Amino acid sequence: MSELRFDGKVAVVTGAGNGLGRSHALLLAERGAKVVVNDLGGALDGTGASSGPAAEVVETIKKNGGEAVASTDNVATPEGAQAIIQTALDAFGRVDILVNNAGILRDRSFGKMTVEEFDAVLAVHVRGSFLVTRAAFPHMKEQAYGRIINTSSPAGLFGNFGQTNYSTAKMGLVGFTKTLAIEGARANIKVNAIAPVAWTRMTQSILPAEFEQKFSVDRISPLVAYLAHESCETTGEVFSVGGGRVARVFVAEGPGWRTDEISPEAIRDNWEAIMAEQPYLTTELGKQAQASMEKML
Ligand code: NAI
Repeated sequence: MSELRFDGKVAVVTGAGNGLGRSHALLLAERGAKVVVNDLGGALDGTGASSGPAAEVVETIKKNGGEAVASTDNVATPEGAQAIIQTALDAFGRVDILVNNAGILRDRSFGKMTVEEFDAVLAVHVRGSFLVTRAAFPHMKEQAYGRIINTSSPAGLFGNFGQTNYSTAKMGLVGFTKTLAIEGARANIKVNAIAPVAWTRMTQSILPAEFEQKFSVDRISPLVAYLAHESCETTGEVFSVGGGRVARVFVAEGPGWRTDEISPEAIRDNWEAIMAEQPYLTTELGKQAQASMEKML
């Protein structure tokens, strides 16, 4: 089995000072990528900042014989996002791989959630992924090569109590991934998303203690590495990953029910058919719509 290597490639991993991002950065560096380790170094709720976590990861990579530089810029501001990509260009001259991983939590039941808590979470996950990608995209387009991995979550795909802000952000990244995959296709820029479950500071208070070993972060990074590799042709997909299992997650449409005389009562009376999942439709209709949009723009 030939090893997947990243020699000559430059990777930017946001939020790489802790947890999943740290693990992604270490694996990519171990396999030859030059890595920008970005982390603001704040608390789980996004408050505060410290250069410590990014510096520690850079030091570890160097100790292992790899190449890395730290960035403590904030993904959620246009200046911070530009600075992260500029760090890659200044240190290594290019950017091939971007892993949008930085994230925060402000959990609260919907009735109690403040506007500030909603906005803060969207700012880091959605705006942050948009801004850092926006800074990297022209360089990827220019070199006709790029691999972008966004970080969604089961909470976004399936819902989770107390996380309307976070779920909105994480499902937002699915839409971002799908459309960016379409727009990046011509320039060989592949864009995918992962929906992980792993034991980190973000989840250790909610996951059972026995998950610590089974759901370790190093069981997520191999998927990120594959999606980041030049041999991976897949784009626009979302993968559930955790505990050694990897699965494609896809949005499907049921066979549906149709009538020439639609009314609220007819809908009520045919609810079972409307709710049916099988046989689900492929995305062919969606693809046709996309093709006509592309011609218009
Ligand atoms: P973590 O808290 O260990 O790591 C997140 C990192 O992002 C932290 O080091 C933090 O300093 C950094 N960060 C936060 N805001 C930033 C900003 N504005 N600019 C730069 N860096 C910033 O948590 P974990 O679990 O490693 O999370 C990584 C990603 O995976 C997040 O996007 C999270 O939402 C996602 N995720 C994690 C799951 C899990 O089971 N651990 C489940 C689903 C998604």
